[in-house]
Amino acid sequence: MWRQAVIYQIYPWTFYEDPKRKPQRGIGSLKGITQKLPYLREELGVDAIWLSPFYKSPMKDCGYDISSYVDIHPDLGDMDDFDKLIEKAHDLGLKIMIDFVANHTSDQHEWFQKSRKRQDGFDDWYIWHPGKKDEHGNRIPPNNWASVFSMPNKKARERGEFAELRPDEWTPPISAWQWDEERGEYYLHSFAKEQPDLNWSNPVVRQAMKDVMRFWLDKGVDGFRVDAINWMGKNMSLEDEQVNTAYSEEYYGNPYDQLLKANSCNYMNALHQYIWEMCEVLREEQYENRDLRMILEAHMGESELRELNAIAPDVSSTFNFGAMKLKWSAPERRLQLDYYYENLDARNIGNQVNGNHDETRLASRLGDEVARTAAVMNFFLPGMKFIYNGEELGLHNADVPLEKMRDHENGFRDGERTPMIWDDRQENAGFSSADADQLWLPINTNDLGNSLARQENDPKSSFSLYRAAIKLAKEIEAFRSGAYRSVPTNNIDVFAFERKSGDDEALVLVNFSPNMQYVSVAAKFSQGKSVLSSVDVTLNPQEVNLTEGLHLQPNEAMVVLPV
Ligand code: NOJ
Repeated sequence: MWRQAVIYQIYPWTFYEDPKRKPQRGIGSLKGITQKLPYLREELGVDAIWLSPFYKSPMKDCGYDISSYVDIHPDLGDMDDFDKLIEKAHDLGLKIMIDFVANHTSDQHEWFQKSRKRQDGFDDWYIWHPGKKDEHGNRIPPNNWASVFSMPNKKARERGEFAELRPDEWTPPISAWQWDEERGEYYLHSFAKEQPDLNWSNPVVRQAMKDVMRFWLDKGVDGFRVDAINWMGKNMSLEDEQVNTAYSEEYYGNPYDQLLKANSCNYMNALHQYIWEMCEVLREEQYENRDLRMILEAHMGESELRELNAIAPDVSSTFNFGAMKLKWSAPERRLQLDYYYENLDARNIGNQVNGNHDETRLASRLGDEVARTAAVMNFFLPGMKFIYNGEELGLHNADVPLEKMRDHENGFRDGERTPMIWDDRQENAGFSSADADQLWLPINTNDLGNSLARQENDPKSSFSLYRAAIKLAKEIEAFRSGAYRSVPTNNIDVFAFERKSGDDEALVLVNFSPNMQYVSVAAKFSQGKSVLSSVDVTLNPQEVNLTEGLHLQPNEAMVVLPV
């Protein structure tokens, strides 16, 4: 099922509040999600959902700081709601993937509370260290490892702090070590200080985490999106990181990037072992015939990703963030995709991603037209396709005022997390009927014109395009099972690829430029008909001659079948 699955990421806090909840809280709910499953399955046509964290959490990192892996956050509902959500999803033929935040917990987790008190054998469940002394005898952290969330220092400097630094001196990152008075030692936190890293080198911790996986698998979930995989692999001899001499404040932006990362994360031997062990859970006898899958959030070079993809291709693969990281350019995308598919083990399942809750929304990143192009392109490439909620409507990043931000300490990612725009004629765009100032994050009023209600019956809308592309990709055998091959064109701005399975062939042309382009393509077939265009879904199929050449509209992605 996963091989061509369209997977829809839901950010539970801002997706949909069950209208029957009294009083309304201005926060999405599990019951709300359940009510929207028919929309996702029957209207949009998705095959699976991925739920961002819905667990008990003090919300220091919007749910990625979990204080109990086996409890639901009360603002979102309860376990009964979750059971019903799974039941409904499965009835509709949808699979469910949940976020597995394996690298760290909240500092409020019982495990950490016990660990800091050295209670009940929890001493080494986290990474503790007494620190070392500097030349003046002052206590300092054991090494130079830094927190990913070092942006606050940059912001502080912009506000006038760190006045002692010369203009050309780098703003220091935030140490990954936090002193804990109670235990009298430092603990490691790769992210916020309220997110202590679990000690995966401790086999007891690994057992406990694998039990968490089993808990949810036994409830019926079909897979996991594993958070922050890089940081799970650490060099436990705690060697310093080397300095990234190429760092510049303007280019990198985050003081964290002053360090190269080979010890505090990306330590491959350990990481490979932990991934292998998690995969083994999915393969356990009791889960036979369940078609389970894991997708890993890994930020690393293509060759390291390739190694991770080879660990257990039958059950696990890494996210392919190529589309989000590269410039919008035909040659760059071609190169990346060629490398990606060439190196993907045949047993593995590739994937395409245009956005998530950590990245500027697709339409804000690339503009409205190009967002449509990028979406169409991804839907016709092999593998799983991820859609971040609201992307199908072409929603934009919101300008969230500082006082309303939830994420101002860790990354300012609120702009891409504001509520879904269901119906602009309803209060709060149909997301919740709580008072507007009570909403978890404000409605992006600039996007009211993009509500689902307006787009549903508009054949030219972004929603209609997504629906048509998803449907077409499922109907055509070449897109269901065909291999990828990029195809030469005579125009540097036009990227073309074909999908071929036995005698079934199909071609996709993508004009990366904002101008009309003329292109001829060295495809396997010469006479074709265009069956879908990102510019206008209502266009009638047209005969095209690929050898002689054809015109593409500005930023047009076009699907061509042989005649
Ligand atoms: C990646 C998640 O996507 C992000 O939202 C979170 O802040 C970090 N991992 C830490 O868990």
